[in-house]
Amino acid sequence: MAIQRIKSKWAKTNVLLKSEELRDQIPLTSMWSPLSLKEMLNEYEMVYIKPDRGTFGKGVIRVEKQVNDHYSFQLGKKKRVFSSFENMLIPLQRKVASRFYLIQRGIHLLTYLGRRFDLRVMVQINNNNEWESTGIIGRLSHPNKIITNYHGGGTPMSMNKLMGRHLTLRETADFSIQLQKQGVAIAKQLQTEYPRLKEIGIDVAVDTGLKPWILEVNTLPDPFIFRKLEDKRVFHKIYRYCKMYGRF
Ligand SMILES: Nc1ncnc2c1ncn2[C@@H]1O[C@H](COP(=O)(O)OP(=O)(O)OP(=O)(O)O)[C@@H](O)[C@H]1O
Ligand SMILES: [Mg+2]
Repeated sequence: MAIQRIKSKWAKTNVLLKSEELRDQIPLTSMWSPLSLKEMLNEYEMVYIKPDRGTFGKGVIRVEKQVNDHYSFQLGKKKRVFSSFENMLIPLQRKVASRFYLIQRGIHLLTYLGRRFDLRVMVQINNNNEWESTGIIGRLSHPNKIITNYHGGGTPMSMNKLMGRHLTLRETADFSIQLQKQGVAIAKQLQTEYPRLKEIGIDVAVDTGLKPWILEVNTLPDPFIFRKLEDKRVFHKIYRYCKMYGRF
C-alpha cells in the first residue's frame, strides 16, 4: 500500500498534542484570526504565520510586537513596520486571505555568525520494520530571511559545526542522541493516526536556552539535503530506505 503523506500542519500538530511527552515541546499553534494574533503577540511578542499546507517556506511571515507598541511583519526579505496593530492588520489580512493559515508562537533560534539556524531530523522505518533516526542536518538561514529552508535560500550545514558555537562536541553528541530518541517518539505518535507512514522529516528549533521545539513534521521529507554532509554514509542509508519503500 502507498506511503501515507499528510499535508495539513494543523492535523499533524493535533495528533502530536495528544502525547503528554511531546506536548510541552510544541509551540502554541492556533488558526488564523486577528484576535488570536493580537493575543499571541501580547503573550509572546513574536509569532510566525504560515499556510496550513505550505512548502519550501513559501508564504511564511514573521510578526513582531515592538517595545514602543509598533508592530512589524516580514515576508521574504522585506520587513514592514507599522505604528499600530490595526495599521498592520490591513496589509497582513490581504496576505492571508486566500488560504487557511496558522499562527505559531515564534521561537528565537540559535545563531551561527549572526544567521539563524534550525535542525532537520530524518526518521524512517528500517529493514526490521522499526523506526530509526537516520540523519540530522542543520539549516542556516539566508542573512536577510526569516526561514531556513534550502529552497528558500538556506544553507544546509553539519549540526556539529552549527551547535559548536553553543555546545562542546561531547554535549552536541548527547543532544543529538536526545533528538534521535525524540524523533522516534514523534514518529510513533503520528503512526497512531497514520498507520501507513514510513518516513518523516522533523523541523526542530533550538531556542537560546537550548530547548528543542518541534516546529513541524514533513511526511514527504527531502532525502537529498543530506548529500551535503561530509559523512556520505548518512545519505546512503537514507536513500537506501527511500528506495526500499519504492519512492524512486
Ligand atoms: N514558530 C516558529 N518559530 C521560529 N521559526 C519558525 C517558526 N515556524 C517556522 N519557522 C521558520 O520558517 C521555516 C519554514 O517554516 P515551515 O517549515 O513551517 O514551513 P514549510 O513551508 O512547511 O516548509 P517545508 O514544508 O519545506 O519544511 C522553518 O524551517 C523555520 O526556519
Ligand atoms: Mg518546514
